[in-house]
Amino acid sequence: MNSMFRHLALAAALFASAGAFAQTAPQRTADDSLYQALGGKGGLTTLMDRFMERLLADARMRPFFKDSDQQHVKEQLVLQICEVSGGPCRRDGPDMKKAHDGMDVTRGDFNALVEVLQDTMDAQGIPFVAQNRLLAKLAPMHRQIINTP
Ligand code: HEM
Repeated sequence: MNSMFRHLALAAALFASAGAFAQTAPQRTADDSLYQALGGKGGLTTLMDRFMERLLADARMRPFFKDSDQQHVKEQLVLQICEVSGGPCRRDGPDMKKAHDGMDVTRGDFNALVEVLQDTMDAQGIPFVAQNRLLAKLAPMHRQIINTP
């Protein structure tokens, strides 16, 4: 009985100190190394400008993007990539399923867009490791974006 009481007391003390720690400890610094490797906000803005130019020059992608609000899409992409790469941004537009609902996107379309993004990053001198880290974050979104066999 005595030892059970000691365990409970210990657990209560741990909880109390964990609570106090949560209140006083500084915010854990987020890992923004990928965001930095992509050139921060300036680098991402340039990257998305060039990405859109290449999308419009690509015969497979042009039909999707030519009539879109390109400025809006670029801004949303900058916010989204800033956020997923650990930067200080939050994108709160429609989710990826909703954003791509109105168009028929196949796996081939998705892969083509990724290829254009890789070419754009290559041309901007983004290190291969950073490219792969970004693609690993974007790849799972295919489940929301590909909506046509
Ligand atoms: C990982 C891949 C992708 C990401 C991260 C992505 C991200 C986005 C974002 C953030 C927007 C803006 C949505 C908004 O706030 O209104 C958008 C719009 C758009 N996306 Fe994607 N997208 C991807 C793949 C694709 C693919 C494969 C296609 C077609 C081939 C595509 C075509 C479009 C088009 C045409 C728009 C503009 C829609 C409109 O005019 O409202 N996207 N995308």
